[in-house]
Amino acid sequence: MKILLMFIMGFSYVYAAKVVDVGKRFKSSSSCKVCHKRIVDEWSQSWHAKSHFANDEYFKKSLEYVSRKSRKSLNALKVQCATCHNPRISVTSTDESYEIAAVMGLNKDDVVDKAVNDDTISEGINCVVCHNIDKIHDEYDASKRGINRVEWTESGTMTGPFKDVRSPYHKTKHHDFMDKEPNKLCFVCHANDKSLKGVVFTNMEKEYKKKGSPSCVECHMGKKRWDVAATYQFNGKAKKRNVRHHGFAGAHVASMWKDALKLKLATKSKNLIIAIYNPQPHNLPSGFGAREIIVNVAYMNGSKILKEDNISLTRHYTRKRNRVTIPHLAIKQTKDTSIPAKGKKVLKVKKVDGAKKVKVTLYYRLVNDDVRNLLKLKDEIWSKKYFITSKTFQL
Ligand code: HEC
Ligand code: HEC
Ligand code: HEC
Ligand code: HEC
Ligand code: HEC
Repeated sequence: MKILLMFIMGFSYVYAAKVVDVGKRFKSSSSCKVCHKRIVDEWSQSWHAKSHFANDEYFKKSLEYVSRKSRKSLNALKVQCATCHNPRISVTSTDESYEIAAVMGLNKDDVVDKAVNDDTISEGINCVVCHNIDKIHDEYDASKRGINRVEWTESGTMTGPFKDVRSPYHKTKHHDFMDKEPNKLCFVCHANDKSLKGVVFTNMEKEYKKKGSPSCVECHMGKKRWDVAATYQFNGKAKKRNVRHHGFAGAHVASMWKDALKLKLATKSKNLIIAIYNPQPHNLPSGFGAREIIVNVAYMNGSKILKEDNISLTRHYTRKRNRVTIPHLAIKQTKDTSIPAKGKKVLKVKKVDGAKKVKVTLYYRLVNDDVRNLLKLKDEIWSKKYFITSKTFQL
């Protein structure tokens, strides 16, 4: 009976949206190392290399939390989140009958179970995610992202920025989104991230100020530099070209935060005016919801601190009956407190009597108190305060 049920359901609950299998020779970044060692090493330090649930505590605990609260099976959610976090997954959606099978315990070792645990996706966003994209469907509805917005090349064809390349290991193909319009590639996933209830908590594509701005890769892959793309030698020489760093340094990298925002202080009658400027072409914090900017205001007399305030710029998320929740379960979110792209945010606070000067310091935190406590995140990176900038002002 179990077998029969599995057989019937097996066909109904899995339908693949144009999956192209990744050949054995290309699955793992370690097979690129012989010729692209520098790039593989850089990438392996990036958070793209940690986008699989096994490698990111915040992601893993979010998945488990959403599963508990929404009563959706963990595997179904893994498939759903894989849309952007693990887009080379071989099953792209599950339906109601899968949930029934999961509740009955009929899903062990089935095709979905195998897909979410397959080694093809264990490296997260690896080389064959970005370099096997053959087409980006910008004409699709904005809600279709990741796996649902792209078409893949045949396995073994690497798309890249160069037109005049040859490789003994793989075919190559040029695309403008690797070269002239790289933002398109980033927006496949860095846009329109939303909760199960459809609340969009981040949309970098919408907030991005295109005019006169450098592209994403200029800042997050660094300036082009003269080096080899591959160490493989034709006629005894490896060709030098303009290449970029594959570290994708972002919110988890302390040095990136230093001076990412600017401060200007002034007084107006009894108030201190704190203006925070964001020179970047996207909002900060941006990206993922529940990120936080902390404005620390210390009123001083000499070296003595008279009073210290911490103002939190973050978003709060609620589900049914106004209960606090995480972004992925939000029915409602509080208003956007981020500093707008190429814009400013002005805060007004009351001065403290007797204070001779004030020191304002900006910090960034990956996860705000609400969400960190709900998920019981353990690693210290989630609570650590990254220094941004600081200014002192005589009152
Ligand atoms: C998040 C997407 C992404 C991932 C993941 C990624 N790349 Fe790239 N790669 C790019 C982009 C974009 C460029 C073009 C950079 C430029 O020249 O402006 C590029 C360029 C390259 C180039 C040409 C040389 C250069 O630096 O421009 C090679 C070779 C390459 N990548 C190999 C790899 C390998 C090997 C991996 C896996 C370890 C990898 N890439 C992972 C996006 C990615
Ligand atoms: C045996 C050596 C070798 C191996 C292994 C290898 N490549 Fe390459 N690859 C090359 C050479 C050579 C080039 C051309 C470099 C040049 O002309 O500057 C190249 C170019 C590329 C480019 C740029 C293509 C373009 O059109 O701009 C990408 C992307 C790339 N490789 C990705 C990969 C990935 C991903 C892997 C692992 C799955 C891999 N390569 C494995 C030798 C290799
Ligand atoms: C296939 C989907 C996908 C594509 C394409 C993609 N990213 Fe990402 N990116 C992600 C995901 C998912 C994460 C978060 C991984 C994690 O933290 O576990 C991420 C993380 C990052 C981070 C680190 C952010 C942080 O919080 O530290 C940066 C920076 C970044 N991406 C930049 C880029 C740029 C630039 C491009 C375009 C060249 C790009 N990404 C293309 C999905 C993608
Ligand atoms: C002028 C440089 C610049 C450009 C261009 C740029 N960024 Fe950023 N980005 C930053 C800085 C600075 C930060 C804050 C420090 C950090 O997180 O790296 C940041 C933060 C981020 C973060 C983490 C935000 C958070 O709060 O979690 C992501 C993701 C990101 N950028 C992706 C992108 C994407 C995608 C693009 C292209 C649409 C892009 N960036 C264009 C400079 C830039
Ligand atoms: C539309 C594409 C997309 C989908 C679908 C998606 N994510 Fe993400 N996710 C991203 C991107 C892009 C980032 C990186 C943003 C940043 O760091 O600013 C990210 C980052 C995260 C982070 C922060 C990780 C860190 O290290 O700080 C968590 C947690 C997360 N996602 C959970 C989930 C869960 C749970 C699901 C499924 C319910 C999911 N995501 C589905 C695109 C997506």
